[in-house]
Amino acid sequence: MIVCSCNVLSDGAVRGCLGDGPGCPRTPAQVYACLGCSPKCGRCARTIRAIMQNALAGAAIEAGHEAHACATGCATGCSLGKVQPAEEGIAA
Ligand code: FES
Repeated sequence: MIVCSCNVLSDGAVRGCLGDGPGCPRTPAQVYACLGCSPKCGRCARTIRAIMQNALAGAAIEAGHEAHACATGCATGCSLGKVQPAEEGIAA
């Protein structure tokens, strides 16, 4: 499902960013950057944040669980222990 119509980002692409690595996204803005784009209208930020929170609500992400789609190569060592609260990180 497309969650960001401005950048044509799918929920799967967002989840794909949420692998391991110290540079893994913890804000919607970091998700955009991870996927090689930037926020435009910002309407999708809440949805992206919800996807991030849902991903973190489950069990710890297992190494090698899913192909890592992040263009920044942050695939190792990320705990994804928290998502920044509120709307921090939306401004680009
Ligand atoms: S819908 Fe994502 S920036 Fe506009």
